[in-house]
Amino acid sequence: MPLPRSIAVDGPAGSGKSSVSYIVARDLDYLFIDTGAFYRALTLAAIERGQVDATEAVLAELGAHIKIGITSDVSSDGRQYTVLLEDKDVTWAIREHAVEAHVSRVAAMRSVRSLINVRQRAIAAQNKVIMAGRDIGTAVLPDADLKLYLDASPEARGRRRYDQLIAAGKPADLEEITQDLRARDLYDSSRTVDPLRQAPDAVYVNTDDLTIPGVVARIEQIIHDWRAQPTP
Ligand code: CDP
Repeated sequence: MPLPRSIAVDGPAGSGKSSVSYIVARDLDYLFIDTGAFYRALTLAAIERGQVDATEAVLAELGAHIKIGITSDVSSDGRQYTVLLEDKDVTWAIREHAVEAHVSRVAAMRSVRSLINVRQRAIAAQNKVIMAGRDIGTAVLPDADLKLYLDASPEARGRRRYDQLIAAGKPADLEEITQDLRARDLYDSSRTVDPLRQAPDAVYVNTDDLTIPGVVARIEQIIHDWRAQPTP
């Protein structure tokens, strides 16, 4: 069997989806798409225009016209990809607290999601992708060849985010980070439109006691097993 053409990786914030997907994509020659970057970039655009508290119609209008580009350029500053908003590099700006505080509200809007889904499906149709997010296996690519759901306890996820920020020389408060993650998880999993949820046919991977290389090895084994299964 060839490699799966599309791999969906879903899970809550800090479950390691993007770090792991990035490495697996590099090892196995996939295009890695971190779908949260689209919602974050749109949220940043709304903040910059003073529209972040605007109605769904206003945000959908902005989403329909704003130019968001994700490229594989990794530069030399530890980024996994580059995000362009109207051609401006916003790769780090979309990680700021202000974006994090508003992104779940923007991402819960039906019309915003449907236009972002169209962009994401177009990328998957053109490329061999590993796509990471919340609703990839359930809504964006329900027919993905392989689906994974990465999970970990809120404590482990908070600690990872904290360590990432400290390693990047940024101020961080473990308590606050863990609370933010819990709040975002609750919002993401209880929204009406395409909530964070494990697809019934996704392989569940608990990463609590695994290092990043450990999760990568586990996932590459799952991909290997997928290839070895008999064709139906
Ligand atoms: O990196 P982290 O896991 O913290 O977040 P992210 O993947 O960048 O996603 C940021 C936010 O975008 C999430 O909290 C969701 O509200 C939203 N999102 C979504 O609704 N659907 C996706 N496929 C990806 C992200």
